[in-house]
Amino acid sequence: MKALLDKINLELERRTDEIDAPKRIKESVKYSLLAGGKRLRPVMLLKSAGMMGGGGETAMAFACALEMIHTYSLIHDDLPVMDNDELRRGKPTNHVLFGEALALLAGDALLNLAYETILNALMHDPSAQAISAAAVIARAAGMNGMIGGQVLDVDGAQEQDEALALKEMHLKKTGALFEAAVLAGAILAGAKEEEIALLREYAHNFGMVFQITDDILDVTGDVKVLGKSIGKDEAANKVTYVSVYGLERARELAIEHVHKANDCLDKLQADSSYFKQLIQGLIDRDR
Ligand code: IPE
Ligand code: IPE
Ligand code: MG
Ligand code: MG
Ligand code: MG
Repeated sequence: MKALLDKINLELERRTDEIDAPKRIKESVKYSLLAGGKRLRPVMLLKSAGMMGGGGETAMAFACALEMIHTYSLIHDDLPVMDNDELRRGKPTNHVLFGEALALLAGDALLNLAYETILNALMHDPSAQAISAAAVIARAAGMNGMIGGQVLDVDGAQEQDEALALKEMHLKKTGALFEAAVLAGAILAGAKEEEIALLREYAHNFGMVFQITDDILDVTGDVKVLGKSIGKDEAANKVTYVSVYGLERARELAIEHVHKANDCLDKLQADSSYFKQLIQGLIDRDR
């Protein structure tokens, strides 16, 4: 696992080192991208490809692209116009250090670099599978995926049914990139339709568990371990699993999603033990 993380980190570093850009934007981009996140999305893309019998350079490029998109979403999420956060990945947020204009541009630059990375990979591997995986990532990052979820988050619950609205928001703002990770990896490896459908269902449940535990950690977390500030959701009057269901019920719901996710994995032929462990580990995560 450590070897895989090191590899991803080195790849991200190499891909940003080689860019010829004004010093400040390069610094700002590298600051957030190389700040030491958990790298869950790239790891999941590569593990999904591996599980379904694939991998290789295209998968690594797409994994890096996904982490770039995720990091851009964090930089923008932390901006004063959104969550106004000052701590991320255990360090001051991008805008605190570089100013809002640079933070905005660093996010834009990372999103752009992600697609440049994907397109460069497609030039070497223009297979139908690679093109399809690229489209999955683009769709997940957009308005019907992560960005759409962020809109639901900043607008607050508008729907009558608060529970349903909350689930939709979590599936989009957080679930979409996890879904892209698992599906892009599987598609690159040539997974079949039935396998893709099961993995999609797994990823939905994974996204739910991840964001429910994120909501819980905003209440119960330790700033030093978590690397981001706590108590912000309540202070900002955010609709979260904790605000709607309370801590205990939120935890139960997370566990229900773990069971649903495992049911999907059980129907796969491939050895999915890594993904079972990964989702189980979310329940007691502290970061
Ligand atoms: C944080 O994601 C944003 C959410 C979707 C809740 P992570 O918890 O994966 O953040 P890093 O990448 O490890 O910093
Ligand atoms: C963030 O959700 C989701 C995205 C960045 C897309 P949160 O706002 O809850 O994430 P944290 O808690 O700031 O990491
Ligand atoms: Mg947010
Ligand atoms: Mg936030
Ligand atoms: Mg949060």
